Amino acid sequence: MTQKSTIPEFTLTIQSGKNRFGEKEGFDCIVIRPGDTLSIVGPTGSGKSALINDIETLAQGDTVTGRYILINGEVPPESFVREPAFKPIALITQNTRCLADLSVEEFLIMHIRARRPGREYLLAETINLANTFTGEEISLKSRMSGLSGGQTRAFMIADALIIGDTPILLLDEIENAGIFKNRVMQSIQGGNKAVVLVTHDPYLALTADRRIVMRYGGVSSIIEPTGQEQDLVEDLALIDERLNKIREKIRLGTAFSSGSSEALMIAVGQGVTYK
Ligand SMILES: Nc1ncnc2c1ncn2[C@@H]1O[C@H](COP(=O)(O)OP(=O)(O)O)[C@@H](O)[C@H]1O
Ligand SMILES: [Mg+2]
Repeated sequence: MTQKSTIPEFTLTIQSGKNRFGEKEGFDCIVIRPGDTLSIVGPTGSGKSALINDIETLAQGDTVTGRYILINGEVPPESFVREPAFKPIALITQNTRCLADLSVEEFLIMHIRARRPGREYLLAETINLANTFTGEEISLKSRMSGLSGGQTRAFMIADALIIGDTPILLLDEIENAGIFKNRVMQSIQGGNKAVVLVTHDPYLALTADRRIVMRYGGVSSIIEPTGQEQDLVEDLALIDERLNKIREKIRLGTAFSSGSSEALMIAVGQGVTYK
C-alpha cells in the first residue's frame, strides 16, 4: 500500500508463550502493522479466543498462556490498559451487545460525536457500508435491538471500520450470520486498520495475509499464502455468493424447480467480479 509511509508507525507484537502442556509455541514473535489481516484457525478449545483476549487485554505474562503483547516494541503504558479511550484495540465478539436501545441513527450520531466530532457525514457512509455487507437492508430508523444477527454483525463491522478509530480490530467468530464475507474482507483489506479474525469460515481464513493455526492452547504454525490457494479462494467466493442468493430467494418465498440450481449458477458467474 502506497499510503503507508504517511501513517504514523504503529506495531503490535505478540511474544510467544506456552500451550496447555507447557510447551513453547511454534513462533518467537508476530508483528502486526496497519493494513495487515490475520486469521486464527483451529478446533474448538484450541485457544483461539485466549489469543484474541491476550491481544485485547495487552497481556504481560499474566494470563494462562504467558504471552506478552508489545505496542511499538515496548510494554504499553498503563493508560492503554485502563482507559478505554486510549486503547488502540477494539474487539467484536458474538456476544457484543449495544446496551442502550437507540435507533441506528441515534447510536451513530452518539458514536460520531464521541469519536469523530464534526464529521456527521460519516453517518451515511457507515450505514451504506453496512448495507453492502448484509442482504437485509438496515434503515436509520431501525431500533438497535431489532436488528437481526446478520444486520448487527454488518453494522458493528462497518461502525468499527468507519467511526471506530483504533488501529487494531479483533473479530472473534462473527461470520455465522449470512453477511457478504467477501465484501467485508475487501473492505477490511482496503483500509489502514490491522484486523485479526478468529474464523471457521474457509473464505475468511484463506483470504487473510497470514493464517495462525492453533493447537492445544498454543500457536502451532503460521501460514503465509504463496498464491497457490488463489483458485480455491475464487471458488469459495462464488460458492458463497451462490449460497447468499439462494438464501435470499428462500426468504422471499421462492419454491425451486429442478432447473433453478443451474440458472442461479449462471447468474452468479455473470454478475460478480472478484479480484
Ligand atoms: N496456552 C494455554 N494454557 C492453558 N490453558 C489455555 C491455553 N490457551 C487456552 N487455554 C484455555 O483453554 C480453554 C479453551 O480456550 P479458548 O481460547 O476458549 O478456545 P477456542 O476459542 O479455540 O474455542 C479456555 O478455558 C482457555 O482459558
Ligand atoms: Mg472461542
